[in-house]
Amino acid sequence: MTLSVICGGFFGDEGKGKVLSYLALKDNPSIVVRAGVGTNAGHTIQFKGKEYKLRMVPSGFINPDTRLLIGAGVLVDPIVLFKEMKETNSICGVDYQSGIIEEKHREIDSSNAHLKGKIGTTGSGTGPANQDRAMRILKVARDIPELEPYLTDVSVEINDALDEGKTVQAEGSQAIFLSLFHGSYPYVTSKDTSAAAICSDIGVGPKRVDEVIVVFKAYVTRVGTGELPGELSLEELKKRGWVEYGAVTGRPRRAAPFNYNLAKKSVRLNSATQIALTKLDIIYPQISRANSVDHIKGEVEDFIDSIEKATKTKVSIIGTGPSAEDIIDLRENI
Ligand code: IMP
Ligand code: MG
Repeated sequence: MTLSVICGGFFGDEGKGKVLSYLALKDNPSIVVRAGVGTNAGHTIQFKGKEYKLRMVPSGFINPDTRLLIGAGVLVDPIVLFKEMKETNSICGVDYQSGIIEEKHREIDSSNAHLKGKIGTTGSGTGPANQDRAMRILKVARDIPELEPYLTDVSVEINDALDEGKTVQAEGSQAIFLSLFHGSYPYVTSKDTSAAAICSDIGVGPKRVDEVIVVFKAYVTRVGTGELPGELSLEELKKRGWVEYGAVTGRPRRAAPFNYNLAKKSVRLNSATQIALTKLDIIYPQISRANSVDHIKGEVEDFIDSIEKATKTKVSIIGTGPSAEDIIDLRENI
């Protein structure tokens, strides 16, 4: 029986979708449950030559034996959910109490001068919907007839599965420095995004968690406004091959070199037990698409060692390419 919580280590877009999809194939969890804020997060999954950018359906959809769930703390946009269930040919259980994003929330989020202009939100309606939730006027999933066939008690399903000795994977979204409480306020999202928040989103207590895997990219990126220590110019990013675009908004991502202080803080705030390090192949092309531990040597090994030393936490999973299979899995070695 294992409950693993997977959370973003920097400002989002660390490659959680890729790590999650690998784990869903490798660990064969009974349940993969989506936590986090809502449709503002886009998880990119490449599998068998196809690419998916998912804002609602959990990344575990690539394992047909896995039950997919969305927790009570997650905002559901029924339009996005139905589109993605169709696209991925999957069924996703939704908690009775998940909040509902409506047209009016998307409208405010994409036109309001403070949200759109100053904070640089994704425009997906999550902030205004969470505002209505705090006012206790937001509709929840049980109020929406079209969601009736998908409704479930996510907390009961997860806790029962764990009692039966099954494996459950909890998928966080955004990342710790976008947390409403622990991030670079006010340039943050509309909710907490820590490992503890992920537990709350899905209805499990902290004592049920076995592993907290924090995902770091080999360099730090950020979309929208707010601080980014060590930010490099676009010219420099082009030189380094670090130019990326947001999965939800298509905006270019700002970027900076790997930040050890932020990594340390992130491990502390999430009580991480392991680190997944993605896009290492972008920095070290010699490990592109590698799967073998034998590739961890020389400068690659030195970089990993430096992260482990700074954070006092083991790097257990390494991303070596965009596809779900491009991973070096070190978990058996630690
Ligand atoms: P909101 O979450 O749409 O309200 O946007 C607030 C801030 O969080 C903006 O800077 C967004 O760019 C950022 N943000 C929200 N979700 C994500 C994500 O999944 N990845 C990266 N940045 C995000
Ligand atoms: Mg993303």
